Amino acid sequence: MLKAMTMTLVGGIFLITAVCSLAADKGGPNGKTLFENNCGKCHNLDRATSKKKTKDEWQATVLRMKQKGAAINDDDAKLIADYLSETYKK
Ligand code: HEC
Repeated sequence: MLKAMTMTLVGGIFLITAVCSLAADKGGPNGKTLFENNCGKCHNLDRATSKKKTKDEWQATVLRMKQKGAAINDDDAKLIADYLSETYKK
């Protein structure tokens, strides 16, 4: 009985650790998801994906979109700019 409970506990902790490390994975997938969820509302995503910009330019673009009304906070903006500048760089 005790052994079964210990195994469940260890298994649970292992699962939680695995899920957390997936979620914290470099911000790449998060930036992509945030981009896909927020940047296709006023125009198509290809408005952005057809461009190549430096990191500074992407940061400026994302901030400009935020000012236009994109529903993102500063952390989201950073993740999106990081993702775009990694994926669509000059
Ligand atoms: C509230 C509406 C809105 C949202 C949300 C929005 N955009 Fe835009 N975007 C616009 C408008 C309007 C234009 C065209 C006018 C302009 O370029 O200023 C535009 C133009 C652009 C352009 C082309 C101009 C340039 O600077 O290269 C890019 C790239 C772009 N958006 C990227 C994004 C990204 C990335 C996001 C998500 C963070 C986003 N947009 C979210 C309204 C929006």
